[in-house]
Formats: sequence, C-alpha cells, structure tokens
Amino acid sequence: MTVRTSDIEKAAGLLRAGGLVALPTETVYGLGANAEDPAAVARIFQAKGRPSSHPLIVHIGGADSLDEWVEDVSPTARLLAEHFWPGPLTLVLPRGPRVPLEATGGLDTAAVRVPAHPVALALLSAFGGGITAPSANRFGSVSPTTADHVRAELGAAVDFVLDGGPCEVGVESTIVDVTGEVPGVLRPGGVTREELEAVLGCPVTVPETSSVRVPGQHPSHYAPRARVVLVAPDKVVAEAEGAQERGHRVGVFLPPTAVTPPKVHAVVDLPASAAAYARGLYGFLRELDEQGCDLIIASLPAEEGLGLAIANRLRRAAGPRPDGEQLGRQER
Ligand code: TXA
Ligand code: MG
Repeated sequence: MTVRTSDIEKAAGLLRAGGLVALPTETVYGLGANAEDPAAVARIFQAKGRPSSHPLIVHIGGADSLDEWVEDVSPTARLLAEHFWPGPLTLVLPRGPRVPLEATGGLDTAAVRVPAHPVALALLSAFGGGITAPSANRFGSVSPTTADHVRAELGAAVDFVLDGGPCEVGVESTIVDVTGEVPGVLRPGGVTREELEAVLGCPVTVPETSSVRVPGQHPSHYAPRARVVLVAPDKVVAEAEGAQERGHRVGVFLPPTAVTPPKVHAVVDLPASAAAYARGLYGFLRELDEQGCDLIIASLPAEEGLGLAIANRLRRAAGPRPDGEQLGRQER
C-alpha cells in the first residue's frame, strides 16, 4: 500500500487548519488532530461520541522530541522509549506545557508514543508537531484496522482518511505509567509483558485480569453489535450449538484444535499464532456483525505474550453494556 506524497501534504495541511485526519498506525487506525489545537482536539471527542474526560495519546515523530511534550523523563522511561520506539508502546509521564488539558482530559500527565508505521511517521514529519489520536472508532465500539473500517465508523465526521493498508499488530499499544518508582502497565497491548520485563530486568505489574463480571465495574468497550459470551475452550462448540438451537444467530470463534465446524450461523477459524489472532481480532468481530450474528461465543486464549492483550479486549467486549448504548446499537 503506497500513499502519495501529495496525500501526506494534504493531510498535514488539514491538521494545520484544525481538521481531523484518520491515519494508519501499526496497531489500529487513529483519528488525528493537531495536539496543540484545543478546538481540533474537541472535534475528536465530538466525532467519536467520547466523554471529554477520557485522555488521548499524543503521537510524536521520534524519541528525541520526547522532552518537548512531557517532563521529568526518568531513566526508566528513557530506556523504554529507546528500546521500543517506534513501536506499540505508550508512556504516561508528567504533562509538558505543549500538551493542552483538553488532550489529557484535565490530567497533569500525558500519554505519548512514536508509531511504527511509515505513513504515520511521514505525516508526523510533514506536519512537524504532535498528533493527538484515539482509535478511529465510535466510543465503545471495535477499533478499526483498515481504512474501510474507519469510513464505516466515522463517515463524514473525518476530513480525510490516509489508507496505509491493514494494521500489522491489530491491537492497541501497551500503556505504561512511568510517573512513579515502579512502572505499571495500564493497558496490555502490542508490546508484551515479557518484552518489557526483559528490558527492565524486573517483574511488571499488569491490571487485574480476572474474568469476574460485576455490573457497572466492567463497562463494555471494543464491543461489536452482537453480544459476546466467553466460555471455557472445551465448551465453545456445545455452547454455540445450544444457543443456535434456542434461536440465536450464533457466530463462533473456533479454536484451531476444533475438528468439525459447529452447526451455527457463522464461524471464524482462529489462527494458531497469537500474532495472527491479534492482527485479525477486530476484523473477526466486525465480520460476525456483518453476517448478522446476534451472539458471539468465544474463549480466552492463554494469557501470555500477545494473548494478554487479546484476552483483555475479549473481556471488555463481553462486559455489560449500558442500557442506552445497547438500545442505540439495536437501532443502528
Ligand atoms: O495503539 C494505540 O494506542 C492507538 C493508536 C491510534 O495509537 N490509540 C489508542 O487510543 O488506542 P485510545 O484513545 O483509543 O486509547 C488511549 C488510552 C485510553 O484508554 C486512555 O485512558 C489512556 O490511553 N490514556 C491516555 N492518556 C492517559 C494518561 N495521562 N494517564 C492514563 N491513561 C491515559
Ligand atoms: Mg480506543
């Protein structure tokens, strides 16, 4: 997938003029605006239907400009930046004056990353500043991993979409809080816990990963229209066929070990490698929505490597949904 230089220039011009540009990154597509333009940043929240208290990530062109955006960069933060950038790692650090409070949801910290995608890097270089960008989807729904997903999610709310082909990683960046003594993972993602631990030489804490579902405490996110139900791997086929018999239009995330396709509405044959699963995950969820499934039966992968991020997204997709949101979804 090649993007013309004229398209990069056009996108950079739109950012300078306060516009919204969707850009490919190695993780998912982002909905970008000039990080230093509060009015443009406000348009992001509007386009996504996202509460303005949710902080955004500032994308920058290189680790060498980190100090322009954040302060008190610790040796640990520096080490992680040098090791993983460009790449799917986001660092949370004390906010510098260039990052407006609108971009951080009022927080005194800011999230920063250097994306590993040639089109994103070309845009950052042509634009010259920081690009604040959440995933380019409606709030709460599945993140986009192709330009078509972005157009389907946001339509006319975005001024221009740079098409850099399908995203390589497929799940969002790993977010690490490096404001304290001990770095803590706020969101598992494209850089694995094992990779972080190898570089830091110490164990890294990851947020609670239990599957206990308490209403209200586990708000739905990364969710398709269809309801997502997680079951034990050896129960997937039986649960799916049972639900189909009860009248559901069931879509199944079928583990690679399963031999016979279950008698259900639609099947996604999961790839054996975690990298391929992560790359395909959001596309699979969208595919089952498109096929008209109202219920998706899946199981959690082993929570190691990229499996940790996949399991995190599946749990959130299966989380309880606010009534209003669910109504909205049915009406779509
Ligand atoms: O891979 C990614 O990170 C993608 C691509 C486009 O870069 N972006 C992305 O952005 O996933 P978004 O807005 O969907 O998720 C950003 C996450 C949010 O969960 C937000 O709470 C967290 O980053 N975040 C941002 N600033 C933060 C801060 N100062 N402290 C803690 N969390 C922060
Ligand atoms: Mg998002």
